[in-house]
Amino acid sequence: MAQPVRIGVVGCGSVGTGSYMPFLQRLNLQGVRSEIVAACDVVEERRSMVRERFGVDNFTTDYHDVLANADVDLVLVLTSMQQHGEITRAALEAGKHVLVEKPMSMSLEEAGEIVELARRSPGYLLCAPHVVLSPTYQAMWRHIQRGDIGKVLSARGLYGWSGPNWGEWYYKPGGGSMFDLGVYNVTTLTGLLGPARRVMAMSGIAIPERIINGQRVEVQSHDNAHLLLDFGGSVHAVVTTGFTLQQYRCPGVELYGSEGTIQMLREDWDPGGYELWRNSAGYWELHEDRSNWPWTDGVRHLIESIQAGTPPIITPEHAYHVLEIMTKTMESGNTGQALPIESTFTPPSFEMEGEPEEAAHLIHDPARE
Ligand SMILES: NC(=O)c1ccc[n+]([C@@H]2O[C@H](COP(=O)([O-])OP(=O)(O)OC[C@H]3O[C@@H](n4cnc5c(N)ncnc54)[C@H](O)[C@@H]3O)[C@@H](O)[C@H]2O)c1
Repeated sequence: MAQPVRIGVVGCGSVGTGSYMPFLQRLNLQGVRSEIVAACDVVEERRSMVRERFGVDNFTTDYHDVLANADVDLVLVLTSMQQHGEITRAALEAGKHVLVEKPMSMSLEEAGEIVELARRSPGYLLCAPHVVLSPTYQAMWRHIQRGDIGKVLSARGLYGWSGPNWGEWYYKPGGGSMFDLGVYNVTTLTGLLGPARRVMAMSGIAIPERIINGQRVEVQSHDNAHLLLDFGGSVHAVVTTGFTLQQYRCPGVELYGSEGTIQMLREDWDPGGYELWRNSAGYWELHEDRSNWPWTDGVRHLIESIQAGTPPIITPEHAYHVLEIMTKTMESGNTGQALPIESTFTPPSFEMEGEPEEAAHLIHDPARE
């Protein structure tokens, strides 16, 4: 049996203690073995909560202690976004495996250095979001690869809400809805369509002041964006994101091909399956996914990759490409210019087996009527 991967958690806030750490406990019950051997947060008060809820005694307010700990194999970087780059780089330099929440860095230059470092480092680097791991994403990928909707010509993604009422940093420079939310759609669409070549955006601050943790906060990062992506050959996509959307009722991701359409049920961070229209069939097929795939699944994938000694299928190069698109979205929003995308990456590919039809649940099948 594989050795448990020993984990140091840096950032014990909402997703650290509310999502990743409970998920690691569930994974252990399923035989994906890990142990949280160290935890870190700059807020000292988290110490007792981490001990009581997760039985972790080794708590520090200085992340360097986690990196210096020889018992730590894997560092989870779950801090506010502004700290990701510095901690990720230092953890790779210390020879650790790293999972970093999105984005890997605020700056493209630093992200480029991190990608280079990850190529040389003995540790694997896995950057959130983990959307390409979901069964729904992979089933949609297979349909597209098989040509079920023909050549994809156009696509759209949508993800937004009214915005966090905690974490002032979401609204400070380096925060914003594109880094926090749009990142999922940009990862999904580039994963399915390949690297983008050019972007153009309307992006800005629509709500200049917010109440966060009961305090009035001046919003300093873009909270409202429409991004246009050019994939070459007149293949285009649009991503809409904002802390400006109270509710909506439409699929999170849709792809329009020359022979059909495929659309995701719910959103790419929490997908519930998809609907498929093929001109050749002439009706909509509903493929529900009730597996409740968890958006934290990247840590499961990374633990298994470490135990198997095989690199994760989510690459730092993909995350870098997404970061270039996001930073240029904000630049384009400020300048009104279309901007070329210089980076590229190889999209993840999957086995063609696991035919989605097996799980198909047809809502309208003329053959049955
Ligand atoms: N909240 C969500 O729903 C959600 C979902 C997916 C991903 N994320 C991502 O997860 C990350 C964390 O988000 P969150 O909502 O948990 O934020 P949060 O503010 O609740 O938690 C962040 C924690 O990091 C700590 N921290 C800051 N700097 C640190 C440092 N130098 N060393 C150690 N600890 C430090 C803070 O004290 C805080 O406890 C972000 O990158 C966010 O984009 C959040």
